[in-house]
Amino acid sequence: MKILVTGGAGYIGCHTAHKLKNSGYQPVVLDNLVYGHKDSLRNAGITDHYIGDIGDCYLLRRIFAEHEIQAVMHFSAYAYVGESVCKPDLYYRNNVVNTIRLLDSCVEEGIKCFVFSSSCATYGVAQTEIIQESHAQNPVNPYGRSKLMVEQILKDYETAFGLNHVILRYFNAAGADPSGLIGEDHDPETHLIPLVLYAALGLRENIKIFGTDYNTPDGSCIRDYIHVNDLAHAHILGMKHSLEKRESLIFNLGNGKGYSVREVIEVCKKITKIDFPVIEEKRRAGDPPILVGSSRKINEVLGWEPEFPDLEKIISHAWTWHKKRHAID
Ligand code: UFG
Repeated sequence: MKILVTGGAGYIGCHTAHKLKNSGYQPVVLDNLVYGHKDSLRNAGITDHYIGDIGDCYLLRRIFAEHEIQAVMHFSAYAYVGESVCKPDLYYRNNVVNTIRLLDSCVEEGIKCFVFSSSCATYGVAQTEIIQESHAQNPVNPYGRSKLMVEQILKDYETAFGLNHVILRYFNAAGADPSGLIGEDHDPETHLIPLVLYAALGLRENIKIFGTDYNTPDGSCIRDYIHVNDLAHAHILGMKHSLEKRESLIFNLGNGKGYSVREVIEVCKKITKIDFPVIEEKRRAGDPPILVGSSRKINEVLGWEPEFPDLEKIISHAWTWHKKRHAID
């Protein structure tokens, strides 16, 4: 079965394409390589790929003509929260307008299932300790709003055109495939775990803690880190269920356990056995203090369970990848 994977040369997209392939599916990747990497495609063993934009309806027509696509997994998006605050136009154009173009092509082609990478950023500031899917969605930055808009559009497209969706609201994706072949490779990198590991590798002088005056036990922000392969697995389970039952689904994807920025730094120091300077900085714009998600629903409905729920394991896989990526051992 052929699955179109947009953004399949990016971090979560390439891990999912890799898992699709290893699970007997045929991923067909569309990526404009603005943030994705050709190397990731090669290392993930992806042979069918197109370089281009999701908003290019002519290219989409060609892909759908050349492959009998059964479902679409849509990963491509701009995902820098800070940048989205300064350049909302870019985020709404790419994440919303271009997604509508992709959706229109899916409707035109009679696609039955659209799996969408949404985010815990759609919830905004948590009103409960652990966020369930029913939690109010009041995003606090344009990135989160762009994801919420697409969620709403998907519900309208289901009603009007019968296009079923699987909306997956990721908490903080982290780690790398245990093979060390693929991993997180953003440029610029803004995410906590890779930046801490860069400090351990000596690729940066220090790690900065953005905000130490939050209302949390140690004053730094708390996040729920989930292994990228566990995310990938959930996409496949969700797609299978949606195709079989012809229904739409919405799930959180987190581990239900939060770690503060200070705790993440300590685990990184433990795994790498390397010490490096830690600097306390002021808050970063658009950061909610605590985001921890419940994955009870996806466990109950799809039987999904994380293979790597342990933060030390997540960070050790990331460490293996970054050492290899930067040729250090
Ligand atoms: N942080 C630091 N120092 C850094 C980098 C990050 O203290 O150098 C802090 C952040 O302020 C935040 C935490 O570490 O409190 C995690 O930050 P990340 O940038 O790693 O990830 P975010 O929590 O910002 O993730 C958000 C959403 C995701 C979304 C992602 C997009 O929670 O859903 O941004 O990049 F996908």
